[in-house]
Amino acid sequence: MCGIVGYTGNRKVIPVLLEGLRRLEYRGYDSAGLVYQYQDALVKFRAAGKLVHLEQTVDEHIGEEAYTGLGHTRWATHGAPTQDNAHPHSDCTGELVVVHNGIIENYGKLKQGLVADGHRFSSETDTEVLAHLIEKYLKDDLVTAVRKALARVEGSYALGVMWLKDPGRLVAARNQSPLVMGVDTDACYLASDIPALLPYTKKVIFLDDHELAVLEKGVYTIMGVESGQEISKEIKTIHWNAAMAEKAGYKHFMLKEIYEQPQAILNTVSGRIIPDTGKIDLPEIGLSDEDINKIERIALVACGTSWHAALVAKYWIEKWAGIPVDVDIASEFRYRRLLLHNRVLTVSISQSGETADTLAGIRLAASLGSRVVTICNVVGSTMTREADGVIYTHAGPEIGVASTKAFTSQLSALFLFTLYLGQVRQTIEQDMLKELGTALIDVAALIDTTLPVMQEQIREMIEEYYDAKDFLFIGRGLNFPIALEGALKLKEISYIHAEGYAAGELKHGPIALIDKDMPVMALVPQDSVYQKTISNVEEIRARQGRLLLIGTLGDEHLIKLTDDVLYLPRVHEELNPLLYTIPAQLLSYEIANRRGCDVDQPRNLAKSVTVE
Ligand code: G6P
Repeated sequence: MCGIVGYTGNRKVIPVLLEGLRRLEYRGYDSAGLVYQYQDALVKFRAAGKLVHLEQTVDEHIGEEAYTGLGHTRWATHGAPTQDNAHPHSDCTGELVVVHNGIIENYGKLKQGLVADGHRFSSETDTEVLAHLIEKYLKDDLVTAVRKALARVEGSYALGVMWLKDPGRLVAARNQSPLVMGVDTDACYLASDIPALLPYTKKVIFLDDHELAVLEKGVYTIMGVESGQEISKEIKTIHWNAAMAEKAGYKHFMLKEIYEQPQAILNTVSGRIIPDTGKIDLPEIGLSDEDINKIERIALVACGTSWHAALVAKYWIEKWAGIPVDVDIASEFRYRRLLLHNRVLTVSISQSGETADTLAGIRLAASLGSRVVTICNVVGSTMTREADGVIYTHAGPEIGVASTKAFTSQLSALFLFTLYLGQVRQTIEQDMLKELGTALIDVAALIDTTLPVMQEQIREMIEEYYDAKDFLFIGRGLNFPIALEGALKLKEISYIHAEGYAAGELKHGPIALIDKDMPVMALVPQDSVYQKTISNVEEIRARQGRLLLIGTLGDEHLIKLTDDVLYLPRVHEELNPLLYTIPAQLLSYEIANRRGCDVDQPRNLAKSVTVE
């Protein structure tokens, strides 16, 4: 949450900062601000609302001869999203500025002391405390002052600091909030996430907790915040390119990302299924065959959409690998008694690899002796660095706040993981391994060919539903988590109240909601629980619910139940979750678009949730 950018080099800084903020806006869009050094002053602009307001304010200064600066896009935690609370925040002199992502937990106490010392505050944020605290310790060395201030701070931070009297220099530090540096021969960059760096450099350094960096034109130093000892860090090369984080002619990132799913699935599978034998190869998993054979239980930990992927994986792993699986929402996992030990494997699932609760969950699991594998989309993110092993999803950058291609890529990675477990533990026959692997590749091709038709049909269908107040999604077995995901997507981007239910659970309460105004999207593929789901659909029909059925091509029965049927091609039953997710995504997208909602930046949300 919140996006930080920083630059010092030979380019004019304002366009670099604005471009970086545009690429990080998915992290928060309540307000934005920037600061740069111009002649002998720091010039600061801030605006409430989306980045466009800041851009308008800065517009006439865009070509200014300024070469060092910081920018910030905010997702409010402390203090309303007003201009006064927007970052950067300054000290009393206005000569020192700070941008920050995270939460300073002891800010109340620190503020009291600073106010007593005579510091004047002008915002309600926790961040402003940092500016005044650094000011308190500032004599002639910014790095020392930042280190002294951070020694008193409790909480999480990724921060960028600039001081008028130390021109051309940025100081950055990190604890529990992501921060990455971009390096080039004549410049250094700072960002909360990689997309901000992609137009400029592919060479990056991920800062770790308790590290501080000093950035100058093409030169940098990294040291421990507490020790002050210099640390040598590896420069990593990023293989994404700038165009991957653009809309490429689509109206919204979300729609582009829905259409990218077949490729994202194939990229995730690529090189991991050996074509002739069907053998699965997951070299980065970090577990030997012996480790895998010793696993007694698997704990899957995730948040949001990634948690839905975990729920699907429970069905797969238990069925095909015979290993019991617990699935937890990370914010619950971390605060209950965990019966973990070295024969329990913990697997985190995260698009960003930075979600605070999931990260805390795997740290806790590791501290209890559990091995940790992470399924993640962002190379070099914190989770990938802390886990014992990684299975990367290769979805490319996902910008839309509502996750789509990351989800189907996670499902693909989890399916590969299941097959791998079955292969090592010999719970899946070789022929079946090959059949399932091939089915995964086939589903990508089928999604590719059917997507435009699905979108067209759903766009017509939603005319009847787009003004609904409530919505239910139901499914059984592997499609129950997809019903949850459909409801989440609709809530997130259209603000329609929606619930996902296991179809068989309806009669235990939610059926009371059914009347002629209640739309119900039912996922009814011809699978092993088809008849059971159809019975539940009949129960809804008997109570005049407005049915929207998604089923298997050729299933004539469905059209007798309602006018609104969307037919999907038959795929291997195990892969239905990947296919049946698509109409749920498209339904949400089309409804939100029809209602005029801000699809890519829904209210109150942020893509990367780095606070608890
Ligand atoms: C936020 C996003 C969701 C995402 C969740 C978990 O809530 O809006 O789309 O599913 O975080 O994020 P992660 O990066 O850990 O998958």
